[in-house]
Amino acid sequence: MNIKSIALLSALLLSACSDHPQGREDKKTRHYDEKTLAMGELIYNSHCATCHGYKGEGKTGWQQPGPDGKLPPPPLDGNGRTWRLSSTQIQQFIRLGSPDGRGNMPAWQGKLSEHEISAVAVWITSLWSDQVYLDWQTKTEHGTQ
Ligand code: HEC
Repeated sequence: MNIKSIALLSALLLSACSDHPQGREDKKTRHYDEKTLAMGELIYNSHCATCHGYKGEGKTGWQQPGPDGKLPPPPLDGNGRTWRLSSTQIQQFIRLGSPDGRGNMPAWQGKLSEHEISAVAVWITSLWSDQVYLDWQTKTEHGTQ
């Protein structure tokens, strides 16, 4: 490769980066299946966003029970504790909802198919920064916790 084509390639790479928000680039480097993500996003927007926020930001004060004594919806975007759950546990949470009624997270088993539950679980992890994703992979998914 000569100097000219290297310069051209770098210009292309730079423009590719600035054309996409950080999140999209992250998703590409992590080899997500685009169809799964699209399905997950659709499900999230129609069933989950009203509580967890359209960007997965959750509700403020999510760590403490609200006036009704129930835990508010936590952020799912990597700013909360969701990375402490393995993908199996995330899916199980979605299936069964909030344990012991400590929050108002509904159970989705029977309302969403298994395929839809796993797609929305994958989509949630796609919201995370590379650092959170890496921590999740090393400590939770493949770790000992
Ligand atoms: C009615 C509001 C509401 C809706 C709708 C809702 N959730 Fe939740 N969700 C909550 C609450 C409240 C919690 C915290 C419950 C707890 O900790 O017991 C929660 C917790 C979670 C958790 C555990 C996260 C963590 O960090 O502990 C996941 C994962 C989750 N929700 C995913 C979803 C998905 C996916 C959908 C849509 C299919 C959804 N939720 C729809 C209210 C909701």
